[in-house]
Amino acid sequence: MIGLQWGDEAKGKLVDLLTVGQEIVVRYQGGANAGHTVVVGNEVYKLHHIPSGIIHEGVLNLVAPGVVIHPETILREIDSLEARGIRLDGRLKLSDRAHIVMPWHMIEDQLWNAATSGDRNIGTTLRGIGPCYRDKVGRSFAIRLGDLVRPDFADRVAQIMEFKLPMLKSLPGGQDADLQTERIVQEFDGYAKRLRPFVCDTTAILLDAVEDGRKILFEGAQGSLLDIDHGTFPFVTSSNSSGVGISAGSGVAARWLTRVLGVVKAYSTRVGGGPFPTELTNETGNRIRTAGNEFGTTTGRPRRCGWFDAVAVRYTRRLGGVHALSLMMLDVLSVLPEISICTAYEIDGVVTNQFPSDADTLRRVRPVLETLPGWNVDITGAKSWEDLPEQAQAYVRRIEELVGCKAAYISVGPERYQTITPETADATLAGMAAAV
Ligand code: GDP
Ligand code: IMO
Ligand code: MG
Repeated sequence: MIGLQWGDEAKGKLVDLLTVGQEIVVRYQGGANAGHTVVVGNEVYKLHHIPSGIIHEGVLNLVAPGVVIHPETILREIDSLEARGIRLDGRLKLSDRAHIVMPWHMIEDQLWNAATSGDRNIGTTLRGIGPCYRDKVGRSFAIRLGDLVRPDFADRVAQIMEFKLPMLKSLPGGQDADLQTERIVQEFDGYAKRLRPFVCDTTAILLDAVEDGRKILFEGAQGSLLDIDHGTFPFVTSSNSSGVGISAGSGVAARWLTRVLGVVKAYSTRVGGGPFPTELTNETGNRIRTAGNEFGTTTGRPRRCGWFDAVAVRYTRRLGGVHALSLMMLDVLSVLPEISICTAYEIDGVVTNQFPSDADTLRRVRPVLETLPGWNVDITGAKSWEDLPEQAQAYVRRIEELVGCKAAYISVGPERYQTITPETADATLAGMAAAV
């Protein structure tokens, strides 16, 4: 299950829903930049590293090698789940191959973000993601979860600090960077003691699981347009958040992936910087933001809102090899008298349905819009396709047509039961949530 836009497509709700009937749920990329919300009655869970399948008893939840882990944040998640009576022992496993976001990564993310402005500012979540993934690829300054529980951890930190501290201090604004090896080692010693029972080789578990034919759900973080290789570079995150990242991050080869579900909102949002062709910087955008409560789960920032972009989603649908869509937050659009969809891009006078490969071209896009009538009634109680007003059905059908893929689910509210399966949906996928 992958997001097909710029993140926050309501992946958390869908994973929780689809976990019914699954044996294992896997997070395979990203880190604490993700904020996945699961609503069950009065309980609201906000998950950053831990898979959204954790609420279902008896399901194994794995955090795979491609994830970068911030120990303090994951321990807070663990505590918060346990405080609500969710038992994690034996049900949560963290890969010893996953890299750790260290204090220097957090500082560097903040310094670089503060040093850039305007059109160049990525507006990261300030969770140390970029610097951590860079050190992973660079190898020299990397620390993995397995290293945290090894006896030479203190030496490793001391060695890296010899390079890192002068580097940080030489950056604009970094002269007061306050990091001390002893303090870091002491702090992380505490994390190691608590995390040790969860750390193991998740790849070994997964490779056995696929050969044994067990049911596994992979939970994408971010959205495909934030993919480091295929997204709107450089306004992206630092991992492969499109469908291509599943195998790299989890260690499970593509041949085992049988169904790919692409999650989209019924409109578009984006947090942080970067081009956004269908952005609405007017009252309509504000109405969508208010109706959809479009404020970041991780950072609280207001999300930029805009019309559904069928050019972008068709691109990410193809990129991810998506079998079916899950169309979320349709209820939010009930506040609008008319709704537009971007059907094509006009770039320097040429109309195209190809998604451009660079941010500068994307900035020059003039969206070609098609406007459909709204429905103006509350649909949050709709239980079936027939319960949806004709205009809402027409809107869904048009999106399916433009993107080139049917919807297996339509979501009309944050709760599990506020989910509709259209009759035209792919039977295998629709069957995944049959128990709901
Ligand atoms: P994620 O990062 O993709 O998991 O999405 P977020 O959790 O960051 O943001 C989605 C938000 O929308 C959460 O607050 C969900 O509870 C909420 N939500 C999910 N589905 C629906 C829906 O169909 N309608 C409405 N109104 N809200 C929804
Ligand atoms: P979920 O999983 C929305 C955005 C940031 C920024 C860019 C890079 O909840 O959908 P980073 O901190 O990753 O270096 O920031 O990516 N971003 C997200 N936007 N949802 C997310 O996750 C995001 N994770 C990162 O706002 O523009
Ligand atoms: Mg989110």
